[in-house]
Amino acid sequence: MSGRLKRCFSLDDFEVAARPMLPRMIHGFIAGGAETEAGLRDNRAAFQDYAFVPRVLLDVKSRTQRTSLFGRDYAAPFGIAPVGAAALCGYRADIALARAAAAAGLPMVLSASSLVALEEVRREGPTAWYQLYVPGDAARIETVIDRALAAGYDTIVVTADVPVSANRENNLRNGFRLPIVATPRVVGDCALHPAWLFGTLIRTLLRHGMPHFENMDAVRGPPIFSRNQLRNVDGRDELCWDHIALIRRRWPGKLVVKGILARDDARIAREAGADGIILSNHGGRQLDGAIAPLRVLPEIVADSAGMPVMLDGGLRRGTDILKALALGARFVFIGRPMLFAAALAGEAGVAHAIALLMSEIDRDLALLGLKGIAQLGPDRLRRLGGPSRV
Ligand code: FNR
Repeated sequence: MSGRLKRCFSLDDFEVAARPMLPRMIHGFIAGGAETEAGLRDNRAAFQDYAFVPRVLLDVKSRTQRTSLFGRDYAAPFGIAPVGAAALCGYRADIALARAAAAAGLPMVLSASSLVALEEVRREGPTAWYQLYVPGDAARIETVIDRALAAGYDTIVVTADVPVSANRENNLRNGFRLPIVATPRVVGDCALHPAWLFGTLIRTLLRHGMPHFENMDAVRGPPIFSRNQLRNVDGRDELCWDHIALIRRRWPGKLVVKGILARDDARIAREAGADGIILSNHGGRQLDGAIAPLRVLPEIVADSAGMPVMLDGGLRRGTDILKALALGARFVFIGRPMLFAAALAGEAGVAHAIALLMSEIDRDLALLGLKGIAQLGPDRLRRLGGPSRV
């Protein structure tokens, strides 16, 4: 294990280790949230509202955290959330994330805003899912779905919480936007971080040419450095439930809707034929002050009629994951720490992050008096300051 990874004992350590290597604008892009970052902070705080009630002396020797989801068996109840422009943060980071996830037996969701062709990512990481950012335009929706199907994807995730771009002031302060415009400030920021400049940017340019947004549509999108080309993000504010019904009719695989927080939307997604939903406030990166997904999890699970309810946002520990599962989540996803791990040490970094989290879950199961995820229920949890049970 490299020296950098030896200092990473928990998921939060990857950001600490990666930060000095990364240009300020790249660190801010990954770590930041929208406006006051209230949503970002509450994602973490929500987990502190719950405490465990462990049971003891129950012989927990043969423990397993294997989890089945959509008819597949995964090694643990978590996967890697979609993160856009990952290959700008770490060298070919989409591949690093996909390979490490596949090697560990976990899903990784490839972002529509990614810079490596979705066909290559799926070849390298056969457990990958594909996330769509689509406009309310039937022709564009159909062609990108057909592309994902031809590439072998079996699960797609439609992100629903980006009708317009977010207001992330840290990006404005750091001069960061996509496509990147090489202003003197941006050039200076890059020059001051040679490990990233040579290890990620120049290495990518030399080996693979100028990165493009590869996967937004059926055809290649604009380059990541561009003075005059805009990313094709128009029409997302026209996306509506009718398009989800259209996607359902066209897509033969599993269909997941991500970015749901309201109970009514969870119900509509189920009625529209979604196989599952991901409760998410986009890691606090879209609507500032959007409620932490953990806070709406119990009411949405109660109404879910068996549809898998998944969740992301602020999960950093095995205990966070087990709290979400005890409240009824079927699966969870981790965003920022995995991207920092990829930026720090590529596939080995992501593998290390996954191993740390799996080891925490294993230990926590034992300490809770459980042999497996299936035994975990709300009886192991108390809501602090609230009713005696969740
Ligand atoms: C994201 N997220 C995201 N979501 C999505 O559906 N498509 C995307 O392209 C992106 N891009 C993206 C980039 C970066 C740098 C981050 C940090 C996040 C949101 C992501 O999938 C997830 O919802 C959150 O990251 C989960 O919160 P944590 O684990 O980062 O706290």
